Amino acid sequence: MTARLILAPMEGVLDHLMRDLLTRINPFDLCVTEFIRVVDMRLPPRVFYRLCPELHSGCTTPNGTPVRIQLLGQDEHWLAENAIQACELGANGIDLNFGCPAKTVNKSRGGASLLADSEQLYRIGKAVRDAVPAHLPVSAKIRLGLEDRESYLENSQALAEAGINELAVHARSKKDGYRPPAYWPMVANIRAALSIPVVINGEIWNSEHAKQAKAQSQCSDVMLGRGALALPNLAATIKDNIAPMNWYEVVALLLDYSSQEIAGDKGEYYPNRIKQWLSYLKIQYPEANTLFREIRTLTHTDDIRRTLAAL
Ligand SMILES: Cc1cc2nc3c(=O)[nH]c(=O)nc-3n(C[C@H](O)[C@H](O)[C@H](O)COP(=O)(O)O)c2cc1C
Repeated sequence: MTARLILAPMEGVLDHLMRDLLTRINPFDLCVTEFIRVVDMRLPPRVFYRLCPELHSGCTTPNGTPVRIQLLGQDEHWLAENAIQACELGANGIDLNFGCPAKTVNKSRGGASLLADSEQLYRIGKAVRDAVPAHLPVSAKIRLGLEDRESYLENSQALAEAGINELAVHARSKKDGYRPPAYWPMVANIRAALSIPVVINGEIWNSEHAKQAKAQSQCSDVMLGRGALALPNLAATIKDNIAPMNWYEVVALLLDYSSQEIAGDKGEYYPNRIKQWLSYLKIQYPEANTLFREIRTLTHTDDIRRTLAAL
């Protein structure tokens, strides 16, 4: 298989509009939705459609990039039930979240807290793999561990034995949070131990990082998260050797995104969403910092749009 570029799931940030925008300008092979929290029931279809409106159109973004639905939970039975529900609604595959560090999720033993229990990882992986039609992939996303970076081989092997089809590894522990570095070389140990594809994730901000991450992890597939928001054509710079976008191209994207966000059902969240995106763009573009300071105190959509249009 040729090397793939995957757009990471990012709750509260990478919604369907952002997936549309980023897949239009980048050669992504796959997107993963924000997580759907599963507790103790089969969730109604509207929950899946809200997080993944692409279900209405073949579960791909408008340019045809497949979208996989991510589930987060701790109970194998209900995860399997909701995986079936997602597939019946047209999902292209299921991704299991074992990396979320959020306190509420971890208190109820979901997300990263399961990294302390490889047997439960196995049970969940197996129940979901058995439930999902054989032609649809089941993947999982893990961190290297909970408090330390010791359990990753045991956890990866448990998930592979459960029959999952691929594994994305955010190369840090939960305790590491999002602090650099990402421990890419540790993922090479997972890569060597498993026969399923392993995807390297974490701290890839430019094409040079992507090269280093691939070399150090021995993975050919790469998942991009914050870097893809900081440099909107990051995936194109990695795969097609295209120059990073200049600020004026980014402004055009911001305007495009603004009109879509406002027209869509999330219009009320627009001021927060655009500020959040600018907080990532600031990492690559000093102009984004200036713009962020200009709009920081604005709470009305029209005021923000006027500021953008005047750039
Ligand atoms: C705001 C935010 C939201 C995230 N939401 C999710 C999520 O819903 N599911 C998930 O598996 N990972 C989630 N992550 C983790 C990312 O997918 C990714 O693993 C992490 O950011 C490391 O990659 P990066 O350094 O390229 O950003 C989130 C990260 C951030 C910063």
